Amino acid sequence: MLNFFKGNEKKEEEIILDSNNIPKHIAIIMDGNGRWAKDRGLARMLGHREGMKTIKRILNRASDLGVKYLTLYAFSTENWKRPKEEVGALMKLIIEFAHKECKDLKKNNVIVKTIGDLDKLPNTSLEAINMLKEETKNNTGIVLNIALNYGGRDEIIVATKEICKQLLDGKISIDNINEELVNNNLYTAGMPDPDLIIRPSGEQRLSNYLLWQSAYSEFWYSNIKWPDFSEKDLERAIYDYQNRDRRFGDIK
Ligand code: IPE
Ligand code: IPE
Ligand code: MG
Repeated sequence: MLNFFKGNEKKEEEIILDSNNIPKHIAIIMDGNGRWAKDRGLARMLGHREGMKTIKRILNRASDLGVKYLTLYAFSTENWKRPKEEVGALMKLIIEFAHKECKDLKKNNVIVKTIGDLDKLPNTSLEAINMLKEETKNNTGIVLNIALNYGGRDEIIVATKEICKQLLDGKISIDNINEELVNNNLYTAGMPDPDLIIRPSGEQRLSNYLLWQSAYSEFWYSNIKWPDFSEKDLERAIYDYQNRDRRFGDIK
């Protein structure tokens, strides 16, 4: 139920969510940092830095709401095409994030995981992210799953190669190739598919995100740029999700 309280001084919107129907896995395409900065006459990098602050707010609210997995698209396999200054700055931001947030992530029971080909990251960024994963691996709360040098097509190619290897080694036969086997060889092995995919900033495309896993995800778009994305926006997205009819091909 959406309630609008129109008081004299301020208009407040209260969103009441069904706690029995919180998406287990939310995946977000953190987009619009560059345009957020441009709107303000700032360097793109400042948009990325501001976007980093949004992560903390959204992660905390998602965790409070009972979301189990939050997957965030931080760097795509295509983002290497950007000017090397921007790529370098983003790689440094990963290090900054890891060192700044490690203590709180640990304390807040967050488990940090990654999807993507991390081997292509600069060593210092890789070390920082591995440190975060190691430090939080014994936590039991929400999974913060960071998509880093992630591409859905790359992921499918990697899984295909792995399955071919198992086939050539005689560990499996052609008849063993099914959805479960493919799932188990993706970067997301062991994680449920995203129930809800959120893309702020006005774009309505997947940009190579979770191509296999999004088969039955619900999509939610908004014009808000990621640095401005608020806890309320997350609730709005979940509210809309709760009012959708997920049929999975069946009739209901
Ligand atoms: C998303 O913001 C962050 C990354 C891709 C790393 P953008 O940098 O794509 O911002 P826009 O789309 O140019 O506004
Ligand atoms: C997708 O955003 C990748 C991330 C948010 C990390 P992009 O800004 O790279 O996507 P396109 O180029 O607009 O499709
Ligand atoms: Mg973008």
